[in-house]
Amino acid sequence: MDQAEQLRNVIKQKSKEAPPNCARVVTVTSGKGGVGKSNVAVNMAVWFRKMGKRVLIFDADLGLANVEVMLGAVPEYNLSDLIYRGKSIREIITPGPMDIGLISGGLGISGLNNLSKDQILYLVHSLSELNELADIIVIDTGAGISDSVLEFVMASPEVLLVSTPEPSSLTDSYSLLKALYRNPIFYKDRVRINIVANKVGSSEEGKAVYARLNAVVSQFLKGSIYFLGMIPQDREMEAAVRSQRVVSVERPNAPSSRAFQVLANNYINNENKMISVHGGIAQVLMNFLSRIGN
Ligand SMILES: Nc1ncnc2c1ncn2[C@@H]1O[C@H](COP(=O)(O)OP(=O)(O)OP(=O)(O)O)[C@@H](O)[C@H]1O
Ligand SMILES: [Mg+2]
Repeated sequence: MDQAEQLRNVIKQKSKEAPPNCARVVTVTSGKGGVGKSNVAVNMAVWFRKMGKRVLIFDADLGLANVEVMLGAVPEYNLSDLIYRGKSIREIITPGPMDIGLISGGLGISGLNNLSKDQILYLVHSLSELNELADIIVIDTGAGISDSVLEFVMASPEVLLVSTPEPSSLTDSYSLLKALYRNPIFYKDRVRINIVANKVGSSEEGKAVYARLNAVVSQFLKGSIYFLGMIPQDREMEAAVRSQRVVSVERPNAPSSRAFQVLANNYINNENKMISVHGGIAQVLMNFLSRIGN
């Protein structure tokens, strides 16, 4: 049996055993780098916590450890320690501010396609334990149309696509959407894509980000995307980032913090509109693995 076939068998078997209560999984991504993904992930996590939800952030960015830096957290372990060095899922969670748990993918992400069947089973089993520890799992990804980012997006039931009004960000967002929709294994009915307009100068500018992307997606890709909301360009947020603080924690009344609160509320209120995916984070990983195993 080759690796791809093994994966498919594991997935078939595991899908049948999916637990009924799964954490909601949302993947934050963007076409262009530096548009605010990690800030969106962290600040939404803060508001989810303020609403009483248990939250985990999974840092799946292969490059710089964005979320760690933002939270001023120093994770002792990452996903590799779980896969290769026998650490348990609870051991690799670093506690962040407000009890937000952080799981660092580290180099564990890049090795995912070379795992043995036993390692995959262990990983999937470990990730399904997260359903007991969290209500919402936020995955922060790197930017751009790299294969691993696309695979994460395609594997996730819900996606936040962060875009700014800058023409280059809009173009790159559109390229990402095009790459997704044109991918033969992207099932548009299984992934809800929500647009977050960041660094906007006005409400009109924020709405225009969505309107432009939606126009091209509906016209040329025959798809539907949704508008989750917008965050203004905010000096208080820049200052918070510079001092490795989270604006929604330090300055909950800053314009960006208020906007993140609205975004988090919109997200929670969307619950009944979400596309249900049984198996939560474990299913996301299995979807991911089944694709890279092909
Ligand atoms: N609404 C905003 N107002 C002001 N500054 C912002 C805003 N959103 C993001 N920034 C600034 O933009 C920079 C990049 O933000 P962030 O690290 O969240 O982006 P990213 O998309 O995660 O980047 P990367 O692609 O490198 O992972 C940060 O310095 C942050 O302070
Ligand atoms: Mg980032």
